[in-house]
Amino acid sequence: MNIDLGEYQNNNHLISPLEIKFPKFTPKLNLAVMASGEGSNFEALVHATRGKLLDATISILIVNNPNCNAINKAKKLNVPFTIINHKEYRNREQLDCEIINRLKNLSIDGIIMAGWMRIVTNVLIKAYPDRIINIHPSLLPSFPGINAIEQALKEKVCITGCSVHLVREKVDNGPILIQAAVPVLTSDNKITLSRKIQIQEHRILPIGVSIAGQNWRHMKSYG
Ligand code: GRF
Repeated sequence: MNIDLGEYQNNNHLISPLEIKFPKFTPKLNLAVMASGEGSNFEALVHATRGKLLDATISILIVNNPNCNAINKAKKLNVPFTIINHKEYRNREQLDCEIINRLKNLSIDGIIMAGWMRIVTNVLIKAYPDRIINIHPSLLPSFPGINAIEQALKEKVCITGCSVHLVREKVDNGPILIQAAVPVLTSDNKITLSRKIQIQEHRILPIGVSIAGQNWRHMKSYG
């Protein structure tokens, strides 16, 4: 008997670590989110905080693209946002200095790069050591950098996914907090695979933030 497993396999995934905990933080984690595009991961984080999963407040959304849809999401969700247009800064370091400047009075525990399409420098990384998180659409260390989904399709891998990790100077290279694996079907293209990976991104990003948040609360100084 032939069983059509298409839909089942489309929904199939594996998240690890498996022990998913959403601890309480006292006071709540205080987060800044940075986004450049659609803002779906930002939106997922806001829903996780309001749905009482992630015990955190998102104090600010930083965007570098004044026309990105993440701004509309921030307005709809009532989250304060600020625009730091990278084109107005001479180099990456100056952009990072301005990020630090905008965050300086907010007592931020951590920064979440949720589709932040700029490389951050040591200026920001040293100001928030081990307190910057990134989400990347591949199973790192495979397919770092841009076009991770196209790279996975080109290499004809059978499994890809997404990773939440701490940010280090080398791009897409810091310690991994959580990953989700997603099967690649022969029928997949960039759109279908991106959609499947994004569903998992929205699930693992709040968990990754919770994992990192527990470490932040044991650190002595804030960034
Ligand atoms: C995500 O797929 C993320 O992995 C990558 O950029 C994309 C951002 O999507 N870094 P969105 O803006 O959160 O919808």
